[in-house]
Amino acid sequence: MSKIQKIKGVADLYPEESARYAFMEATARKVFGEYGYGELRTPILEKTELFCRSIGEETDVVQKEMYTFPDRKGRSLTMRPEATAGVVRSYVENKIYQPGKVSKYFTTGPMFRYERPQAGRMRQFHQINAEVFGASEPHADAEVLLMLSTFLSEIGLEKLSIELNSLGCPECRPVYRKALDDFFSSIDKEQLCDDCNRRVDTNPLRVLDCKVPKCKELTKDAPSIPDHLCDECRDHFDVVLDIIKKAGLSYTLNPRLVRGLDYYQRTTFEVTSGDIGSQTAVAGGGRYDGLVSSLGGAKVPGIGFACGMERLAMLLEGEYERKMDFYVALVDERCASDALLFAENLRRQGQCGEVGFAAKSMKAQLRHANKLGVSKCYIFGTEEFENRTVTVKDMAEGGEQKTISLQD
Ligand code: HAM
Repeated sequence: MSKIQKIKGVADLYPEESARYAFMEATARKVFGEYGYGELRTPILEKTELFCRSIGEETDVVQKEMYTFPDRKGRSLTMRPEATAGVVRSYVENKIYQPGKVSKYFTTGPMFRYERPQAGRMRQFHQINAEVFGASEPHADAEVLLMLSTFLSEIGLEKLSIELNSLGCPECRPVYRKALDDFFSSIDKEQLCDDCNRRVDTNPLRVLDCKVPKCKELTKDAPSIPDHLCDECRDHFDVVLDIIKKAGLSYTLNPRLVRGLDYYQRTTFEVTSGDIGSQTAVAGGGRYDGLVSSLGGAKVPGIGFACGMERLAMLLEGEYERKMDFYVALVDERCASDALLFAENLRRQGQCGEVGFAAKSMKAQLRHANKLGVSKCYIFGTEEFENRTVTVKDMAEGGEQKTISLQD
């Protein structure tokens, strides 16, 4: 029979790798909990319309990357390409909003985007996602950035850079769009890459962060978003920057950071690393004050971010699997039950370890114990069976070996 292989762009995560994911999730749970966030688990499947309306019809995600299919009744469903849309859908549907109330949620889990797979870019990938609803103050933006930075430093990643920008609001964005349209009509658009040629009409801001050298060159004198912010957006952004600076967070301003999802307004940010190849963004987020109302809710502001776990996992060093304390070596098969019950007793005392189920030579078992890296090996052989004892071997180099009564 032929073997079935996994589909392209997805991964099986075995313990060595999945332990990194568990560590990141546990750290997020701890850190985000300290800031008052609770976990919200939303479905992987949503109505396709949700993503079209929130992420934006003209984005790459909606145009080219969604796993969309009709269900058995012909309704169009999509496997979530990101978490924010589902969280907002749930927030609106469950009528969480009350005037003056701030709600904070985090979400973790798999997301799906039909992209060309490469290191750090998968078709099924995992995010740790945080969202705050009901706070329009710049202090909320600052707190979100500080929480993200605390999380990253608690998983051991200190050397990442944060890039920040403000995308303005519905007041100042049209003024900027006009300036940008004027600029594009002054250049030879044919020379832009195919994607940008389309984006000039459908989503011109995206042209600004195209990585194609020719596009970068052609747009180097394009008007800058920060120069077109209204007074409120400018003040908002200045307060955010002032607070994070006082908190000791280092950042760079990137006036071309526009993000790939349409719902952002005002503060936007990305965390990047130079150590993971061409996919440099390990986290991204920003403010989305118009999203809740555009999905049928009240006029509630929101802000959040998502970290890409595959990319963070590439940066984590060391081992994250739980270390074993002991190994119980079964050398005489007549001791099998005693050995198993002995190991169980140690676990009830809080130790971690394994026991051999089938009897094997002492040499093979000690080799296995060494591989596990345990500090103690308990040996159940013929002599031990006859004397109702167990031999305890200290696995450190030159470690002692002694025999104790099984009763003890
Ligand atoms: P995003 O920038 O599209 O934002 O994704 C966030 C992070 O997910 C990226 O920085 C990257 O690390 C990771 N990521 C994205 N696509 C892939 C992929 N194909 N393979 C591996 N990792 C990937 C969002 O998704 C927004 N929902 C973030 C947000 C939350 N904004 C406000 N709240």
